[in-house]
Amino acid sequence: MNSSELLRLPLFESQAAEFILDAIRTGLEQRGTFRLGLAGGTTPAAVYAQLALVGKGVSWKTVEFTFGDERCVPPDHAESNFRMAQQTLLANIDASHENVHRIRGELPAESAAREYEALLQHAAARDGETRYRHDLLLLGIGPDGHTASLFPDSPALHEMSRNVIATIGPKPPPQRVTMTFPLINAARRICFLVKDPAKQPVIDEIRRGNLALPAAHVQPANGFLTWLVAA
Ligand code: 6PG
Repeated sequence: MNSSELLRLPLFESQAAEFILDAIRTGLEQRGTFRLGLAGGTTPAAVYAQLALVGKGVSWKTVEFTFGDERCVPPDHAESNFRMAQQTLLANIDASHENVHRIRGELPAESAAREYEALLQHAAARDGETRYRHDLLLLGIGPDGHTASLFPDSPALHEMSRNVIATIGPKPPPQRVTMTFPLINAARRICFLVKDPAKQPVIDEIRRGNLALPAAHVQPANGFLTWLVAA
């Protein structure tokens, strides 16, 4: 059974960071590890910086980091989602290098996708799962209702077997690697981070179940969906 909630946050960055921190602390208490999927784009940057500040007491070495999507650029490129997360969060906490699973955007897209797929499948098998299951997967949405790099009218929307695929999107840079809906929806908890008030109409449409919008297909099979929206 899945359920969804929308929380309006007057202090968006600090309240979103606290929400994420609470989930991490709870997960570590319950399972001793925590699988955190990071969103890309620009919205999460300030949230990640805040998370690094307030998360000083977290045993970050037991947190496994993945990326919901990546642009096909080198990791030091201005458009790299890894670079954004590295500068705001990962460089400012005591994360263990082997637990930060970067999508290698410097490779050809299909090679990077297959490498990431293998990595996640290995981690899932190690833990006796058929599909890698995030404890918390963070996502953004675009004005067109895309999420990760799952854009409207894309063949990527119909991938129901693989966890990670190469895709091309209208948002530059076009060549990308993205998690698919089967992997996204396997998460225990999914959290959309949305700050731009201009996205409220698309949030409303998504929550009304308009399946023409990719983010409306984010429906955790056995988990919770939370919208963290700036008030
Ligand atoms: C990407 C992101 C994408 C992003 C949304 C929102 O790589 O571009 O994964 O899905 O989350 O486009 O982006 P902003 O936070 O910049 O509005």
